[in-house]
Amino acid sequence: MTSAEQERREADLLDRVVHSFDDCPDPRLRQLMTALVRHLHGFVREVRLTEEEWTKAIEFLTAAGHITDDRRQEFILLSDVLGLSMQTIAVNNEAHGNATEATVFGPFFVANSPEIPIGGDSSGGAPGEPCWVEGTVTDTEGQPVAGARIEVWEADDDGLYDVQYGDDRIAARAHLFTDEGGRYSFWAITPTPYPIPHDGPVGQLLAAVGRSPMRASHLHFMVTAEGLRTLVTHIFVRGDELLGSDTVFGVKESLVKDFRRHAPGPTPDGRAMDRAWSQVTFDIVLAPPLS
Ligand code: BEZ
Ligand code: FE
Repeated sequence: MTSAEQERREADLLDRVVHSFDDCPDPRLRQLMTALVRHLHGFVREVRLTEEEWTKAIEFLTAAGHITDDRRQEFILLSDVLGLSMQTIAVNNEAHGNATEATVFGPFFVANSPEIPIGGDSSGGAPGEPCWVEGTVTDTEGQPVAGARIEVWEADDDGLYDVQYGDDRIAARAHLFTDEGGRYSFWAITPTPYPIPHDGPVGQLLAAVGRSPMRASHLHFMVTAEGLRTLVTHIFVRGDELLGSDTVFGVKESLVKDFRRHAPGPTPDGRAMDRAWSQVTFDIVLAPPLS
């Protein structure tokens, strides 16, 4: 219980900090900074933060800064495991009719992926069970979107993205374009679960609170088309036991798809597959652009 005098001191300090932004010439920046300060002070006062805890928090952020470089972004990882990335996506992608839902981007997208033709192979030799992916891209009126650019990327069967090997390989990522009917298809690998990078401060935090670093199995998509809103999303595998505990809160029911498993045999593109494979359909609906 804090005394009335203590309350007054704490409120007075907050008031002075908030008013320090009164002359900020950019109203949006002023709004952001004053709200941030109010919430941060509210946190400190609610939990009665100790000075040792404050020091630990500074050490944590310092360690996150030290491990961050061109290839590793610990702050985004922190935002992801706190659900802040997904909350920001939710705020910025209010449901628009039947448009496909967005989810977290993640740190493993790489620009300039190899182009493959419709029916081509995105795996680039990455280990994993072959997976035939097909679907359409339409707008919210159901009109096919021809020439939409579809970027796909995923972890391999060993739970690693190509960029995590550190040997310049390019695998399990590609892009292709829809045909005049908005259709697309390609070979990928059946997604499997993998942990987010957990050898740094965010991993230590997850361990300290008893949380797993595992992500539910997924295949990333980014779809762009002129005059429509860019969609960043994944599809997830129905039946995956991690769907309810994805460590970055990325799962949305509408993105959980049936990956039908097949014994060796004929495939939709007329091959005779000599090993087990899977097949999924993902029909993508792009929202109108943000005005
Ligand atoms: C990913 O799916 O690639 C990912 C997303 C958030 C954090 C780490 C990885
Ligand atoms: Fe991923």
